Amino acid sequence: VVGWHGNFAPYKYDTARFNTIGTVSFDHPDPSIFTVLTSPSDTPGTANCDFVIFPPRWMVGEDTFRPPWFHRNVMSEFMGLVTGEYDAKEGGFAPGGASLHNCMSGHGPDQASYDKAVSVELKPVKIENTLAFMFETRAPIRTTEWAQTSPMMQLDYDDVWTGFEKGQVE
Ligand SMILES: [Fe+2]
Repeated sequence: VVGWHGNFAPYKYDTARFNTIGTVSFDHPDPSIFTVLTSPSDTPGTANCDFVIFPPRWMVGEDTFRPPWFHRNVMSEFMGLVTGEYDAKEGGFAPGGASLHNCMSGHGPDQASYDKAVSVELKPVKIENTLAFMFETRAPIRTTEWAQTSPMMQLDYDDVWTGFEKGQVE
């Protein structure tokens, strides 16, 4: 940060200090448990903006599909990966990369992550050496022209879901 204006002050936070919580029984809790900072709106459940991180953590849920499931969201989700792998993307989501799922855009784990999650023995597993983040907002996110025309844009992004057979995902 080289400067700021008015009430917008820079703030530095060590994400390693974030006390991550999660289930100790079953089910995949709502990712709002990973919220570091929020700007609430006048409508409960739809923040102006949440800053969320997915740091190293234990996964112990029994009888559970552990990765984020297939879903659509009223909120818009802009995600990025700082290091490691994200548990819903075995491939194609490199550190430094980002994804945008605007309001009600369907998304979920890729085929490899799904296949692994439904076939692996559900022993306690520690997800290590990873850090993903998400800005979640009730506002639609518009991309810049630079992003729309960048050669780095992943034009085949949704191919990760084409391998699923009809009826496979429940
Ligand atoms: Fe999502």
